[in-house]
Amino acid sequence: MPFRNRVTELLGVEIPIVQAPMGWIARAQLASAVSNAGALGIIETSSGELDAVKGEIRKMRDLTDKPFGVNIAQAFVRDPGIVDFVVGEGVKFVTTSAGSPTKYTKPLKEAGLTVFHVVPSLAGALKAIDAGVDGLVVEGGEGGGFKNPRDVATMVLLPLVASKVSVPIIAAGGMLDGPTMAAAFALGAEGIQMGTRMVSALESPVHENWKQAIVRAAETDTVFLNRSHGPGLRALRTARSEQLEQATHNVMSEFGDRANVLKLYFGGDLEAAIALSGQVAGRIDAVRPVAEVIRETAADCLALLAQLAARYPRSEAVRP
Ligand SMILES: Cc1cc2nc3c(=O)[nH]c(=O)nc-3n(C[C@H](O)[C@H](O)[C@H](O)COP(=O)(O)O)c2cc1C
Repeated sequence: MPFRNRVTELLGVEIPIVQAPMGWIARAQLASAVSNAGALGIIETSSGELDAVKGEIRKMRDLTDKPFGVNIAQAFVRDPGIVDFVVGEGVKFVTTSAGSPTKYTKPLKEAGLTVFHVVPSLAGALKAIDAGVDGLVVEGGEGGGFKNPRDVATMVLLPLVASKVSVPIIAAGGMLDGPTMAAAFALGAEGIQMGTRMVSALESPVHENWKQAIVRAAETDTVFLNRSHGPGLRALRTARSEQLEQATHNVMSEFGDRANVLKLYFGGDLEAAIALSGQVAGRIDAVRPVAEVIRETAADCLALLAQLAARYPRSEAVRP
């Protein structure tokens, strides 16, 4: 267990890599592949389809005997019954996001669950600590999905938060391989979360058109939408999203109703809605199986940390 740290202990995993929650995508097919590879699969609730989610949690129990978690995306699941729902399903690890950490942390912790809250800022991190979370997912603005309109890159946000809190941190935004994992550890994280990398993985259920658009994308091929209204969104650059980048109205109305979202996700029509994806799309050059990505990331991270330690041995002369 070379990675043994607070994240592996709290999550019960061998490798401290978490697959991001993503509406309709983070379901049993993808999450079980991640958990079976020794990392942590997460089931989404942001689709709002709690009956389907319940079915996916049951499927997880058939597909893996390894730990997995559930995300409560508060802006999309407004029913407070969600706490009883996850507790009733026997879930042990929850990430809460897109809302106040004061809302669900206490009841979830009272029910014995481990709770990490997703934060985009230092103020958000301190608020979550006050609410009593076990850890933080610190998410930089280069990541895909809904974002704080005042976005801060992982390189600035992660070391800042790490210098001010003592709970374990999972870094999100731009994570995809050994070097990014090693960098996150150097900046204070004990685990990483991958979103866009998982959208484009072999076991991801999204249409091949979206996966190939990620593979083709350059690092400049995402747009940041809705900065003046919020929530912000980071998405792949398409003709439609590029137009929305200039919009002065709240683009949430253009996000797409369920039918259009599904037309994009599973029908492959990239203009039907908004294809949430991060800047790291520019570093993804193939659709690969989850187990390969996780094994390679873990091995390369450890090799890189060892190389760096050997190349830059601690010298007493450098620092008093
Ligand atoms: C398609 C998509 C959907 C997402 N949906 C959610 C969600 O439901 N809940 C959540 O907490 N984060 C969501 N996110 C953000 C991810 O959890 C993750 O933190 C982010 O993708 C990390 O950055 P990366 O894309 O650079 O890996 C989503 C991201 C993407 C790309």
